[in-house]
Amino acid sequence: MPIDLPVTGGRLRTTYDLLRTPYAAYDRWRSTLGDTFVVRAMNGDVVASCDPDFVADFLRLTDDEHTPFASTALVGLLGGGTMIVTPGDAHKRKRRLVGPHFRGERMRAYAGIVDRIARERVARWSGELRVMDETLPISLDVIIRAVFGADDEADVERYRGEITDLVGRMSPLFVFSRQTQRRVFGLGPWARYSDARDRLIDHLKADLAARRAAPDEARPDILTCMAEARDEAGEPMPLDEAAEELVGLLFAGHETTQIALAWAVYWLHRHPETLAALRAELDEAPADPAARVKLPYLEAVVHETLRLYPIVPDVLRTLTVPKTLGGVELPIGTNVAVAAAMTHMRDDLYPDPARFDPQRFVGVKPKPQAYLPFGAGVRRCIGAALAIFEMKVVLAEIIAGVELELLGEETPIRRNVATAPRHGVRVRVVGRRDASAG
Ligand code: HEM
Repeated sequence: MPIDLPVTGGRLRTTYDLLRTPYAAYDRWRSTLGDTFVVRAMNGDVVASCDPDFVADFLRLTDDEHTPFASTALVGLLGGGTMIVTPGDAHKRKRRLVGPHFRGERMRAYAGIVDRIARERVARWSGELRVMDETLPISLDVIIRAVFGADDEADVERYRGEITDLVGRMSPLFVFSRQTQRRVFGLGPWARYSDARDRLIDHLKADLAARRAAPDEARPDILTCMAEARDEAGEPMPLDEAAEELVGLLFAGHETTQIALAWAVYWLHRHPETLAALRAELDEAPADPAARVKLPYLEAVVHETLRLYPIVPDVLRTLTVPKTLGGVELPIGTNVAVAAAMTHMRDDLYPDPARFDPQRFVGVKPKPQAYLPFGAGVRRCIGAALAIFEMKVVLAEIIAGVELELLGEETPIRRNVATAPRHGVRVRVVGRRDASAG
């Protein structure tokens, strides 16, 4: 059944625009095509929208009404064990098993870990640097310690090596097409990538097996929780599947948080009045992560950063049933998307939407249908609470610890699925503010 909606231009041009400058592309399409239209890209047609009724219906999509969009390449890349690629009931079961370990109250257990990582890293900042180069090891260490549960320095170092290897061997082409995932006589980029992934999986499986053999309820990390978790039938998760789930968490969680933190530093320094307001709040509060995460302006800065440039500009699904979203009748098999890049720029939701203004979120909880940096509905980011918590703790440590001078403007550019500052946010450290960072 043809869908009677306006369509973006030619496939090649649309794909190019989406890959290079997704925010500008969505702005342009919305102003010329309206709130709901078909994005005609190389990997298929997608009905994308920021119409509030469409978004509300999208939020209500259940696991048996959709599958993840174009997941074949991701299955090859991450393995079939991660919830990211899992459809239907199995997805629901995975969320039930893993979800509780990411809830707000669990975050208190991670406070000390995240704060110590940030403190040690920020203390080493000096001279000129790219903020994204510095926030990457922070977000990786949080995964290694809080998610993978490594605490022995040699083990942390081994994970760091394996992950750096894996991330370094990753190519955006692997995400785009399964065809690129081929070993050529045991060699080539894919062979190098999959060998690195196998090494990490083996390491995770060994740690999972050790944790299962000697349960320790005092350990707060996700790997331990997964090692001990049982499904409704009382069965433990197979080790392969648990290890792939952990690799999925690594992929979904490290680059997004790295980039979001870099944008936060950028916007605060582009708008000195917001930097001053945050510093004033931090200076008055105890220098303790448990107190800092409750600060309203700090929280508003995090929300506003993710609103202005949502790291993942759109989230996609494929319908497995015919469905009406926002009054548009859509046949089975239709790819559908809600685009944070458009919703967040609606001036009926956010007056003067292109302006960085944390004040709009002070004392205001973002509404699910108006605020989509973590996606929507049953597939909403499972790590959202950890990401927000981590951003607050790390940002507080940076802003309270060092004075920075911004060394140039940034524009957003797409990297894999995330959209990042083109130059990585270049700064010069011009001073230190407290003993903890010195
Ligand atoms: C600022 C940081 C982050 C941003 C902006 C972000 C954003 C997103 C988005 C947009 C989705 C897709 C949701 C959808 O399809 O509706 C997602 C999914 C996911 N994220 Fe995050 N994320 C962040 C951090 C994290 C962290 C720290 C973790 C875990 C350690 C994580 C784990 C996941 C997982 C496992 C999924 C798949 C959920 C599912 O399919 O059920 N993310 N994230």
